[in-house]
Amino acid sequence: MIVTTQQQIDHLRAAGVAVAAAREAMLDAVQPGVATRELDAIGRSVLLAHGAVSAPESLYRFPGATCISVLPCVAHGIPDERVLQRGDVVNIDVSASVDGFFSDTGATMVVGFGKKAHQDAHLARTHPAMATIAVAEQALAHALQTVRAGMKLRSLGRSIEQFANRHGHEVIHNLTGHGVGLSLHEEPENVFNHYAPGEHRTLHKGIVIAIEPFVSSREMIVHNAADGWGLHVLHADTVVAQFEHTVVVMDGAPIVLTA
Ligand code: CO
Ligand code: CO
Repeated sequence: MIVTTQQQIDHLRAAGVAVAAAREAMLDAVQPGVATRELDAIGRSVLLAHGAVSAPESLYRFPGATCISVLPCVAHGIPDERVLQRGDVVNIDVSASVDGFFSDTGATMVVGFGKKAHQDAHLARTHPAMATIAVAEQALAHALQTVRAGMKLRSLGRSIEQFANRHGHEVIHNLTGHGVGLSLHEEPENVFNHYAPGEHRTLHKGIVIAIEPFVSSREMIVHNAADGWGLHVLHADTVVAQFEHTVVVMDGAPIVLTA
């Protein structure tokens, strides 16, 4: 959607606050021995407390309130009885609506370390998964600093890809951000994390998009899992990390709704 009133921004922010609170509560609960279904229950209760409705469940009949993906699954993982172990790389992605306005957010961490452990320079240097998580978080921050009204979608994608490449990483080409607002997925359907030469659309002032770089240590494509939902990489040593915020594009810095 393109927002034109402060009231619309306030509605979107209510959804943004809800998904961000669920994301943080779930990240805080990540530890060895916790089942992903338990994390989902935490996310569900936080959403409920904010008057928010899970987007994947209500729109797509996804079997969970939130998506919890454990490598080699990188997105759309189903919460289940799987018990997290120290060293697992887990991504938590929460999207929901409040009064018909949607926001979407995500983050990645290593089980058994704190949710901010990748910001420790020593850990990021010595632990390969932490390094990828750090680059993914920085790639999102870079995108937020870069995105401006009037920018071409392909320029934003190129900027994200070049940032990842400068830091020794790839981006996943078949996972992208998206327009959001009055539904979870709207125009523009793909907010690319790489340079897509045929993409000529412009980001206009007020457009609401979810920016979500998927930064990879190796593979550049994900594949469908047998469960019909999950998206996987193939090699055991590929690390993929995603961070996501929903933003309103402005002439200056964007309004970040899910911080
Ligand atoms: Co998401
Ligand atoms: Co998204």
